[in-house]
Amino acid sequence: MTAFKTAKFKIQGGKPLDGEVKISGAKNAALPILLSTILTSDTVVLKNVPDLADVKTSFKLLQDLGKHCTYDAQSGEAVISGAVTSFVASYELVKTMRASIMALGPLVAFCGQAEVSLPGGCAIGARPVDLHIKGLQAMGAQIKLDDGYIKATAIGSGRLQGGHIVMDKVSVTGTENLMMAACLGNGTTIIDNAALEPEIVDLAHCLNKMGAKIKGEGTPRLEIEGVEKLHGCEHSVVADRIEAGTYLIAGIATHGVVTCLNTLPSSLESVLQKLRQANALITVDGTSITADMRNRQIKPVDVVTAPHPGFPTDMQAQMTVLNTLSDGVSSVTETIFENRFMHIAELIRMGAHIEIRGNTVICEGVPQLKGAQVMSSDLRASASLVIAGLAAEGTTIVDRIYHMDRGYEHIETKVGSLGGIIERIY
Ligand code: EPZ
Repeated sequence: MTAFKTAKFKIQGGKPLDGEVKISGAKNAALPILLSTILTSDTVVLKNVPDLADVKTSFKLLQDLGKHCTYDAQSGEAVISGAVTSFVASYELVKTMRASIMALGPLVAFCGQAEVSLPGGCAIGARPVDLHIKGLQAMGAQIKLDDGYIKATAIGSGRLQGGHIVMDKVSVTGTENLMMAACLGNGTTIIDNAALEPEIVDLAHCLNKMGAKIKGEGTPRLEIEGVEKLHGCEHSVVADRIEAGTYLIAGIATHGVVTCLNTLPSSLESVLQKLRQANALITVDGTSITADMRNRQIKPVDVVTAPHPGFPTDMQAQMTVLNTLSDGVSSVTETIFENRFMHIAELIRMGAHIEIRGNTVICEGVPQLKGAQVMSSDLRASASLVIAGLAAEGTTIVDRIYHMDRGYEHIETKVGSLGGIIERIY
């Protein structure tokens, strides 16, 4: 029986990265913004949409729902039009991309009802959606959980009502789902303890261009005055702060100099602060950020992940690689997800000295990592293994890189343009 062939990256490490890399539109802004087009039958033109597996899955979901979508991967332009003709998001699609849960709010707001498969857990944690459901109930939706589907109905007039929602926990997609649903509500909705991520601000900007009346984006209190309908618009997706942080760390870990172009520096302040603490020379010039680590020693940096504007959990694995190459002892604490240390065992196989203590890892830096065969387990863990491979001595084979293709555009082209030696093999 032939083993299922998954693509791998073969990386020759030890070469300092040097050059410029264009940062793409943010995956975690593009996904909710694509699903927000469910709220209108008019044409929405989106620019800077990254060419990612999850974006392609979002198009499939929108087409399944009856929307007309075109996408030019070269220009990054997507055009979505037409009204949805179905309110069912199938298990087949939702199981491949848990962000599909963000079709729930828009569908029940636009159609008065929705059936969205409950997303399963994933490698990094159980990832419940109870806050999404509670928020919709506060807007007058009746929710049933039936054979693995969330079945939501806007009772009464078939339209969601305004409501006052206090989120028990800060939730990025929970905030986004409910903010989208409230746009067409009959009345004003307040969302307290809302998440503050830059991707939420970008989604709010796009929705307001569509005629929504959202105030307070980027603050813990959102106020959404419902309107009868939304119209089309043109919007360019905000830069991906996690992709930028990932390439900056790759430059630092290889003692090179990397400039990220087309970034939004203010969206990754907490990351830049930690990179400066790691003794990298960080300069910001407009939308460019440069990390220069030539002839500089990596210093250990303690990190605790937190909701924005704290240190992003999506940068935890990448920062840990830097700590394994520092000249001291450091700790990295993960407070958002319960199982986001699957890269640690792989880094240990590359010679890292790391110990896991509950939701904290203690790193004792080593002068050099050694290339090895390693396995990706989730999107950001795979990014950390590529960084480790680029910094390590010798050859590293990173397996199951389909995880990375979900969130990083044209990886080998971008890493190659920085002088990294990487090829996709099967
Ligand atoms: C978003 O996931 C991102 N995904 C994640 O990025 C990111 O890691 C995460 O926010 C945290 O920043 C997208 O934006 C598509 P949460 P999300 O709801 O919204 C708990 C990546 O690598 N929670 O903010 O699913 C949850 O278990 C991905 O690009 C509930 O308990 O995360 C977690 O402990 C990975 N009930 C915490 O809240 C709920 O209903 C924060 O999760 C919802 C969440």
